[in-house]
Amino acid sequence: MDYLEIEGNNKLSGTITIDGAKNAALPLLAMTILSQSEVKIENLPRVNDVFTMLKLLENLGASYSFEGNCAKIDASSIHNTTAIYDIVRKMRASILTLGPLLARFGKCEVSLPGGCAIGQRPIDLHLKALEMMGAEIVIEQGYVRATAPEGLKGTTIVFDKITVTGTENIVMAAALAKGETKIINAAKEPEVVQLCEVLNASGVKIEGIGSDELIIHGTEQKLLTIDTISVIPDRIEAGTYLCAGAITNSEITLKKVNHTHLFAIILKLQEMGFDFDLGQDSITIKPAVKTKGTKIITSEYPGFPTDMQAQFMALALVAEGASSIDEKLFENRFMHVSELIRMGANIILSNHTATVEGNNELNGADVMATDLRASSALVLAALVAKGTTKVHRIYHLDRGYVGLEKKLQQLGAKVKRLKE
Ligand code: EPZ
Repeated sequence: MDYLEIEGNNKLSGTITIDGAKNAALPLLAMTILSQSEVKIENLPRVNDVFTMLKLLENLGASYSFEGNCAKIDASSIHNTTAIYDIVRKMRASILTLGPLLARFGKCEVSLPGGCAIGQRPIDLHLKALEMMGAEIVIEQGYVRATAPEGLKGTTIVFDKITVTGTENIVMAAALAKGETKIINAAKEPEVVQLCEVLNASGVKIEGIGSDELIIHGTEQKLLTIDTISVIPDRIEAGTYLCAGAITNSEITLKKVNHTHLFAIILKLQEMGFDFDLGQDSITIKPAVKTKGTKIITSEYPGFPTDMQAQFMALALVAEGASSIDEKLFENRFMHVSELIRMGANIILSNHTATVEGNNELNGADVMATDLRASSALVLAALVAKGTTKVHRIYHLDRGYVGLEKKLQQLGAKVKRLKE
């Protein structure tokens, strides 16, 4: 297994380019199941989760090519409707094949994704919504076995909780259903918006895109023709590098970003003392004269993203003042805390709230990555820790960040990728 060795206490400088958004790419790849012909997807990030989803589609019978950041997927030849445990266990977003497979074939079996480090991650809301659309669902031997012999029918669905992949699954199921499906309390993340915009441009009329109430007019199992797609920039990758600039109090520039997706992150960094120059599709973070602590409460988009909580905790450690961080979405998304404490951090946890002392003197240590975003928080802390830090189990990082160590090297960080 690989690990990162990072020498701390260096300023960063320079410019890097942000890749396409993993969490937009995954539903778009699942959506190709609804297409009658080859779909071309550009700006596709070369991260492990994308490779896993391509492998899953191939296992179902689709064919694909993936050169550079462009993939061509032909799902018209899919003949197998079972998403197997061995692939699904590697990536819970495989559940995104459930809606499209059921909508197109009237039956499918998808392995239950299981929980992960940050929480139990149930899919009850996905399943309840599909049942309301006429699906019969049985859970046995760790699989969701779904059938809809008469096809899925449009109906009104109210999500008890806002769920990103739940909304995406139902939007894709409704795309081929008979009649109109109204989703109330839908997720509004930019990644959900892109999926809706692509479907809307492919013959599935969708009203309310970007709002929490969507109306999807199904094609009654008529497969789609989908034009070339370019995946939106990854707002979490961009936010992570903005935190790298902030934590080292450096000036760095990110290219190929969409600022409108970054408002919550930018405003929080401004509150902490940092300033920004915004270009057409670039952003430069400027060093702070004085920083201060902050209060973070994670919430659904457009609120502060839970996927940036760990990174901001690392930044809060070196702010000149205390911070508090409330994680409202996941029950166990503080796995990075114990590792940061091993680096000398003063953090007190009580239930879903972390109280973070500022002005911490961090020291390099051997630390263990536990999940994708927690791993990036450890890397950020290592950039300012005294001495050397080794971040182990960085396969978590490779799931969602393209060449993180290379981009940090480009910015002048002293980081090496080594073998255990
Ligand atoms: C998506 O996960 C993202 N993943 C996550 O990013 C992100 O953290 C999360 O949304 C929240 O923004 C992808 O898009 C592939 P949810 P998802 O369903 O859809 C509860 C990353 O780091 N819930 O919006 O799985 C759930 O337990 C990953 O890139 C139910 O109770 O999250 C959670 O408390 C991590 N029942 C809350 O809703 C359900 O059926 C939000 O979960 C579904 C969800």
